Amino acid sequence: MRSLIDPLDLSVMETNQLLDLADRIAENPGNYSGVCKGKKLATLFYEPSTRTRLSFEAAMLNLGGSVLGFSSANSSSASKGESVADTIRAVSCYADICAIRHPKEGAPLRASKYSKIPVINAGDGGHQHPTQTLTDLMTIRNKKHRLDHLTIGLCGDLKFGRTVHSLIKSLARYEDIRFVLISPEELRAPDYITEHVLKERNIPFEEVESIDDVISKLDILYMTRVQKERFFNEEDYIRLKDSYILTLDKMRGAKPDMAVLHPLPRVNEIALEVDDDPRAAYFDQVQNGVYVRMALIMTLLEVEHA
Ligand code: NCD
Repeated sequence: MRSLIDPLDLSVMETNQLLDLADRIAENPGNYSGVCKGKKLATLFYEPSTRTRLSFEAAMLNLGGSVLGFSSANSSSASKGESVADTIRAVSCYADICAIRHPKEGAPLRASKYSKIPVINAGDGGHQHPTQTLTDLMTIRNKKHRLDHLTIGLCGDLKFGRTVHSLIKSLARYEDIRFVLISPEELRAPDYITEHVLKERNIPFEEVESIDDVISKLDILYMTRVQKERFFNEEDYIRLKDSYILTLDKMRGAKPDMAVLHPLPRVNEIALEVDDDPRAAYFDQVQNGVYVRMALIMTLLEVEHA
């Protein structure tokens, strides 16, 4: 039985195969409408979510399965003090697969140790978010027709942004990838990413504070929200929250085929005027999120398919 806790739980080959399946699903979703008939997905969300939870649920419903779960810690026995280990033991009796989002780093990994069913990490604190990464990879591949030979700019809260950490880990395995990390000093990517993922493997990267200085060389610009809920004090959040606002004026300096991604939710980081620019890919990501999650559920449940 397999779980997906960290993006590296899938090899490059498995990742590519999963993206191929997601592309086939996107072309013809109807072909997959009954493949998970009789199967149940549990969504255990201890933190707020719109897209991740609903896209997991939509994915399972699209496959002909059904869904159950909770969408806040308050409405689960966590509020009575139950451990994740005990909760997952119970959920293993009700469902065939589960997606778990938790504010504590490592909670989904811990759950997977006690689980009898595949566990999918739907975001653990400021740590990892592997299914958003699959969504991002599918979108990049569709826009650029490759996942190698790319210069990727990641901008905003690189410290607490779990989608950033997972995307860097996964993309760093492809050939000739260069990263441009754009953030205020206080929100730089953690050492375990810069030291252990990038430096140790000689992957070229630079850390800068200004988008304007680097936008012209980017193939992808991945914008992120400042992660308010992970700040210890409000003052720091208020000081940093509007560090970057991508406008059409800034986009004038970018390549005509650069793609702008954002995991969403957006707060202020991308001006609404950018939404109509053909380079804006963040609403494509939302749609792709359903297809990759359909592909992932099928893969982890080892569902036979064409
Ligand atoms: C992200 C998350 O939850 O980490 N959202 C998402 O899943 N699409 C990004 C964010 O909350 O800023």
